Amino acid sequence: MFAAFSLFLIVNFLFIQLLIIVMCLQSLKVRAIMDRLTGSARLMVVSDLDFTLVDHHDVQNLSLLRFNALWEAYYRQNSLLVFSTGRSPAIYKQLRNEKPLLTPDIAIMSVGTEIAYGDSMVRDDVWEQYLNHKWDRDIVLEETVKFPQLTPQQETEQRPHKVSFFVEKFNAVEVMKSLSERLEKCGLDVKIIYSSGTALDILPKGAGKGQALAYLLKKFKIDGRVPLNTLVCGDSGNDAELFSIPEVYGVMVSNAQEELLQWHAENAKNNPHIIHATERCAAGIIQAIGNFGLGPNVSLRDIRDFQKCKVEIFSAAHEVVKFYLLYERWRRADIEKSEHYMQSLRSVFYPLGIFVHPSGTEQPLHECVDVMASLYGDKQGKQYRVWVDRVASAQICSDTWLVKFDKWELSGEERRCCLTTVLLSSKTTLPDGFTWMHVHQTWLCGSGSETTWVF
Ligand SMILES: *[C@@H]1O[C@H](CO)[C@@H](O)[C@H](O)[C@H]1NC(C)=O
Ligand SMILES: *[C@@H]1O[C@H](CO)[C@@H](O)[C@H](O)[C@H]1NC(C)=O
Repeated sequence: MFAAFSLFLIVNFLFIQLLIIVMCLQSLKVRAIMDRLTGSARLMVVSDLDFTLVDHHDVQNLSLLRFNALWEAYYRQNSLLVFSTGRSPAIYKQLRNEKPLLTPDIAIMSVGTEIAYGDSMVRDDVWEQYLNHKWDRDIVLEETVKFPQLTPQQETEQRPHKVSFFVEKFNAVEVMKSLSERLEKCGLDVKIIYSSGTALDILPKGAGKGQALAYLLKKFKIDGRVPLNTLVCGDSGNDAELFSIPEVYGVMVSNAQEELLQWHAENAKNNPHIIHATERCAAGIIQAIGNFGLGPNVSLRDIRDFQKCKVEIFSAAHEVVKFYLLYERWRRADIEKSEHYMQSLRSVFYPLGIFVHPSGTEQPLHECVDVMASLYGDKQGKQYRVWVDRVASAQICSDTWLVKFDKWELSGEERRCCLTTVLLSSKTTLPDGFTWMHVHQTWLCGSGSETTWVF
């Protein structure tokens, strides 16, 4: 009798939890992207991509993965991530397919001539209208043809408000000078930017990475939500403008190009808010966050033993990032094979909790732990990484949290992603712990019936 009654309670409980999940999914969906933050961002990071956030010499992409874990555990919920790249939308997307890049809140592309918001990349038409002022692409083409020193860049990089070439270093200064004179005579007002000792971009005068950032800050100001702090990050000539925006912190990564360092020496040498990091790329950005005291600066990827670590801010997002790191390390055999890890997972997974596999099959959470236990080291010595993106969590009642995120897994050449929702309860005997009540996944890209996709 008593057993039947408690079974009834449990079934009832599960049913209510499921209802809550359905309701929350609905409300998360309707929440517009830019309204993700109700107030001012705690930190807005505005970063260039190639050789700033992305280190093309880091074959394992480890500094980027360190940054990802830091951002998703501590910043995603209340901060803004902005990419500012010279890449056009086409080759920006290409980079996102090659590298474990997070989804930014805002993407500024084509050297500040195109701005797009959110996951669905909604374009800012007002910005593009504004750039038409004293700009005529056809005239730029007519005039540049007269310079044999200029080699056009590939077609994808020629944009409505950007005409791009390659030019030899020793020709650059001369070409820039006479080209700007000619275009001025034609009544245009342009800006010519030289970057990485090879790329020459011609843009409307009002464009550029700096102007695009100033435009965004102005928009935030009108809304009354200027970010509490802004950190700009760059490595080359077209990033210099970012550092001249007032009241921002800046980091030139250790591997910054000579042209940027020279600009800094001539224009911003005494500005205490700009540093030249001693670390490369994303590691230099993390270093700057610590240096300026802008928030947590220790990535969970740098912590070997989570049990021993003192957590800076404990949250549902933190819990998710930590779990998937443990999962990666277990399968890569980066931690020792100790039953103690699996025991502690069993203690945080609700005994009656269910995992809904992206294929649709359901399995008790504890069985998934058994499967995971048996996969120790199956990815040892192989290219294998797990990371999470777009972690959003909502407290749905006093002790229950719904967390939604993209879980990425790279295995060899294959990259797959699942939209994942987790129901966490903080009603637990563990002092700073959560109980995992329910996990549900749906393929977002890639798929397969692979049995080794466990969580
Ligand atoms: C790191 O980048 C290389 C390309 O440069 C790519 O082949 C590899 O899959 C990436 N690793 C991860 C974890 O994304
Ligand atoms: C984090 O920042 C603090 C304060 O600036 C610094 O002492 C510490 O070394 C930094 N930690 C890491 C891992 O960068």
